[in-house]
Amino acid sequence: MITVQVDLQERSYPIYIGRGLLKQNSLLAKHIVGSEVMVVTNETVAPLYLDTLLKSLKDYRCAEIILPDGEQHKTLAVLQQIFDDLLKVPFSRHCTVIALGGGVIGDMAGFAAACYQRGVAYIQVPTTLLAQVDSSVGGKTAVNHPLGKNMIGAFYQPRCVLADTDTLDTLDERQLRAGLAEVIKYGLIRDIDFFTWLEEHASEVLAREPSALIHAIERSCRNKAEIVAADERESGVRAILNLGHTFGHAIETGLGYGAWLHGEAVAAGMAMAADLSQRLGWLSATEVGRVLNLLERAGLPRHSPEAIHKARFLELMAVDKKVIDGCLRLVLLRQLGQAVVTDGFDSDLLEATIDKATV
Ligand code: NAD
Ligand code: GLY
Repeated sequence: MITVQVDLQERSYPIYIGRGLLKQNSLLAKHIVGSEVMVVTNETVAPLYLDTLLKSLKDYRCAEIILPDGEQHKTLAVLQQIFDDLLKVPFSRHCTVIALGGGVIGDMAGFAAACYQRGVAYIQVPTTLLAQVDSSVGGKTAVNHPLGKNMIGAFYQPRCVLADTDTLDTLDERQLRAGLAEVIKYGLIRDIDFFTWLEEHASEVLAREPSALIHAIERSCRNKAEIVAADERESGVRAILNLGHTFGHAIETGLGYGAWLHGEAVAAGMAMAADLSQRLGWLSATEVGRVLNLLERAGLPRHSPEAIHKARFLELMAVDKKVIDGCLRLVLLRQLGQAVVTDGFDSDLLEATIDKATV
């Protein structure tokens, strides 16, 4: 087992990465608060892993809530169901919420834990590649609003993250590829050696070769842990984790939540960010080619869907958490392995990028 620490003073916590961790009850026991545990999962993950997790929790008074599956259910209405169940039992303030599932479950269960009785303990048990490398780490929790993705939420750190890589065995190919988009992101924003490693080893990660998969997860988590430790609440450097996300969120919201996977939208968004970076003279054509080539080998989109026309795209991009006083800021690439957050681009360059991406 590998342990990566997220250093946040009294809110510090470990990320455990390895095979068979769901069965190790002693790991969870170290981080559970109280004797009451609410497991939040969904209808797809429950038949696969809920029993195994509950066996590890046999010393606790457990309840579970099984939510409908899908990004379209990441809503305030579904969040209300979690509160209803917590109150029906009722769970006290001295309880622990465990999120068992992908990023949708992690974001919702984390937000429920942040709000229930003004905050109870929670643990992330991510079961998708995307959740193991990104969403379970760093304490961003949220639900979507019809007008914008992840617009209602809180920063709230888990007590630990338990990433059992065996759970990825049941993940379908498309979801694995979507998770790889966020892995590639770390290479692009701050870790050129990792980007180069991915150019050489992407096929092994996609083939779920255990050592390649674990290396990719560990390196991603180390990058994320360092960024979060430096800027927990995104007042500065943490924003670079959103490479491709302003474009990507416009795609997700524009198409309707769930039509494209989050990682797919981020991949197309990273290709657009690379294109705009080239227009600013920061990336060469060869470097943009490396980005597009890796995305292609990962089986990820490199273009936005045609269904979203330019005016709509710009309108959707304006609803972004990086917008300050109406000014759109984007994460772009100064060079491969070095991201910056900037508003220093002309709107005609941005429009040219959108034109190119949506044809
Ligand atoms: P997801 O949670 O929808 O999971 C993808 C699919 O895989 C779902 O159908 C799920 O039921 C299924 N699944 C999960 N684990 C499985 C397993 N082991 N075997 C088989 N099927 C499994 O999607 P995701 O890609 O994990 O997460 C995307 C969400 O994460 C988005 O809502 C995004 O906004 C959010 N996100 C949050 C952060 C953050 O910092 N909080 C970062 C990145 C993404
Ligand atoms: N996924 C972006 C962040 O955690 O900041």
